[in-house]
Amino acid sequence: EKGTYSHFMLKEIDEQPFVIRNIIQKYQDESGDIKLDENIRAAINDTDRIYIIAAGTSYHAGLVGKEMLEKVAKKPVEVHIASEFLYNEPLLSSNPLFIFISQSGETADSRGVLVNAKKNGYRSITITNVPGSTLSREADFTLHTYAGPEIAVASTKAYTAQMAVFSILAMDSARAQEIQTDFNAIQELSLIANAMEVLCDQKDVMEQIARDYLLETRNCFFIGRSMDYSVVQEGALKLKEISYIQAEGFAGGELKHGTIALIEDGTPVIAVTTQKATNLNIRGNVREVEARGANACIISTEDTKQDGDRIVLPTINELMTPLVSVIPLQLISYYAALHRGCDVDKPRNLAKSVTVE
Ligand code: M6R
Repeated sequence: EKGTYSHFMLKEIDEQPFVIRNIIQKYQDESGDIKLDENIRAAINDTDRIYIIAAGTSYHAGLVGKEMLEKVAKKPVEVHIASEFLYNEPLLSSNPLFIFISQSGETADSRGVLVNAKKNGYRSITITNVPGSTLSREADFTLHTYAGPEIAVASTKAYTAQMAVFSILAMDSARAQEIQTDFNAIQELSLIANAMEVLCDQKDVMEQIARDYLLETRNCFFIGRSMDYSVVQEGALKLKEISYIQAEGFAGGELKHGTIALIEDGTPVIAVTTQKATNLNIRGNVREVEARGANACIISTEDTKQDGDRIVLPTINELMTPLVSVIPLQLISYYAALHRGCDVDKPRNLAKSVTVE
């Protein structure tokens, strides 16, 4: 039920701090150690390469999951769009492990890949919000995202929950392999839940940004680098699916290789800069688009901020920033759609779960 909320999407955005705290509880035992099925731990540690398969927002969570598993647990990972993998399988490693990410657990494109993987005897894990769903039943193992029912077509809390589960997997695998790391997913997740709450309390700021940049526009560009590139792809998907504004998320450095030709007077460009290593680069990209008339909105962190940034996020581990930086992107999309008179929870042409190929 929506309760006092006007839309499920807004309710589900606001639920994210609780979902993250719930995940911390579910994946921890009494002594504070990570609680994970031994078979899942073994499957991750035995494989020589992980293949993450997903669609839409879940694919975007996979992009972040790859960074966590590679940087923290030193596991090689490829992320594939399910419908692409299905008919154009890459050369696989000798001992692959498939991880399917699906909020609904019913996405037909992902299921097609799973059916083939099973035929070939490959092991598989499904990360899903619906245990008992098709992808959950058919994979060898399931990891539950514990986000509660997600009703709005636009996925919000499932995305952050999926990334939270990846952070736990990455930390667990690093420990199991005795890799030295400062990365403590549980501690980070509790900081993230607090940061999410702070941002969810700033709805007036997000609404004003939607009004300033998105009320009239036909298009909008999102730019970022590394982790921020992953999250801006999600930001663009959110905006296009519910507000019908043509939106694209680009790697900041790629702009000058073609896309910058599209920048005109007043084109909105939303830049996310949470990574210290690329902060100056992305700011350089912002100057390039502003010089061509763009109307830029910068989202930074306490570590990367400069005067004039519209949103400054609390500091959190750089590998985990998408869990926090996506909150303003979700809210800005929500208010843009709302003020443009769109059906926020049920956008045209879309279904909540896509059970046909
Ligand atoms: O249920 P799934 O996670 O497998 O769904 C995948 C996509 O269809 C889904 O994320 C879609 O892109 C959402 N509408 C995005 O908000």
